Amino acid sequence: MQTEKKENTINNDDRMEKIVSLCKRRGFVFAGSEIYGGFAGTYDYGHYGVMLKDNIERAWKKSMDMHRNMSFINSSIFTASRVWEASGHVSGFSDPLVLCDECNSKNRADHLLESIGIKADEKISEIEINKLFDLHRDKIVCPNCGKKNFGKVRAKNLLATSNMGVFDTEGSDQQSYLRGETAQGIFINYKNILETGSHSIPFGIAQIGKAFRNEISPRQFLFRKREFEQMEMQYFCYPSEAMNEYENWKEERMEYYLKLGIPESKLHFKDHDNLVFYAKAATDIEYEFPFGWGEIEGIHYRSDYDLSQHQKFSGVDMTYFDEDTKERFVPHVVEVSSGLDRTLMMFLCEAYREDDIGGSGRVVLKLNNVLSPIIACISPLLKNKPILVEYAEKVFSNLKKEFGRIAWDDNGNIGKRYRRQDEIGTPFCIVIDFDTLGDPSNTGGQEKNTELKDTVTVRDRDTATQERVNVSELVEYLKNKLK
Ligand code: GAP
Repeated sequence: MQTEKKENTINNDDRMEKIVSLCKRRGFVFAGSEIYGGFAGTYDYGHYGVMLKDNIERAWKKSMDMHRNMSFINSSIFTASRVWEASGHVSGFSDPLVLCDECNSKNRADHLLESIGIKADEKISEIEINKLFDLHRDKIVCPNCGKKNFGKVRAKNLLATSNMGVFDTEGSDQQSYLRGETAQGIFINYKNILETGSHSIPFGIAQIGKAFRNEISPRQFLFRKREFEQMEMQYFCYPSEAMNEYENWKEERMEYYLKLGIPESKLHFKDHDNLVFYAKAATDIEYEFPFGWGEIEGIHYRSDYDLSQHQKFSGVDMTYFDEDTKERFVPHVVEVSSGLDRTLMMFLCEAYREDDIGGSGRVVLKLNNVLSPIIACISPLLKNKPILVEYAEKVFSNLKKEFGRIAWDDNGNIGKRYRRQDEIGTPFCIVIDFDTLGDPSNTGGQEKNTELKDTVTVRDRDTATQERVNVSELVEYLKNKLK
């Protein structure tokens, strides 16, 4: 059955709000500690959020695993404080904090400057941002109280502290740190991987895991959280090859997002204006979110900085011996560092649509099949007809064995089930009805047209068209569609 389909355009301000509301309504994402009024900068993933997140992780891992010289690790969140001293995070990992002297609200000076159209570089120094802030101070209004009375800008360290594993004899615990990036877990394990993985340079170490930052103003839903997940890969290479590798990784990572369905017009590279002293090149892949362009991934050529720092602080030799040239050197590193929460939000923003099907409006997530939490949803037409349910259960378990991401829905009428699955982004809904049983009239006797026996209705999410497919061909049918 062909149905009329018309897409609506949605204004960008509403779009973000609608996506947040969909996430809650359909169980993708909830506010952290919600029943206690929320806890800023934290979000909890619900069932479909977890599945979408798993699919993004799987796609990322697969893209890394395509390289034959790649190892994976899973390092600890709690690490020795010395790791963060060596990496430079204890002394130099900060955001510019400015207090409103009227209402005491805490603000990021660069965000306030942005609100009047002044863009400060992310890596700007404390002195420089104070100068810039002073220059425009008279135009900057507190977003909380509307007054113009700010104090000095201070560099606020972003590392989240913990008392894990540190005790002193006086009874008051000292502090240690939760990791601010997953990358350091990779650097400190570089020797382990090198020695156990039979690798030679170049090779990569990849990891997905949580990172924590004491963000001054967590905002824009999953974009800036205090607890988030990173997917990072450090590529250890010859110094002379590093710039080439950097360019290759830039190309590969952009291609990755394009293949997952993000249009070219919504992605761009944004090179860093001011490089940190040890970086030789750095760029961000930015996506055009409803609120503007935002970084989803950083690609950085970090020279030999991190390994050299850990060598200095730990006393462990981090050099690599090249059997061919008989040279010993500290490898250079190109890193690709992507945010799992941010990319998940990007995929949601990109997939969200409102359209008209046969005169009635619907919300639909047109997610790439690789990412959609569910591939197909199985429904018996009526849940109180055991004969339908029994048949549907068989279809369900067969497909579940084959594909895994199969759901069951027997709540409400079929129209409601379709709408629900559209909002979850399920590409196919499969309905088992009386035709499937070869009993179209459901009279339980009389003359029957059994032509459709053992066929099911498969409804396509994007076109809302339906076709009858023989149950014995369902697996092949879905495999073809999912290609
Ligand atoms: N090791 C390099 C590194 O951590 P980064 O640019 O600070 O670089 C990498 O972070 C990625 O982590 C970003 O591109 C972003 O996707 C994600 N990310 C960073 N801070 C985040 C936050 N507060 N909330 C959510 N994602 C964040």
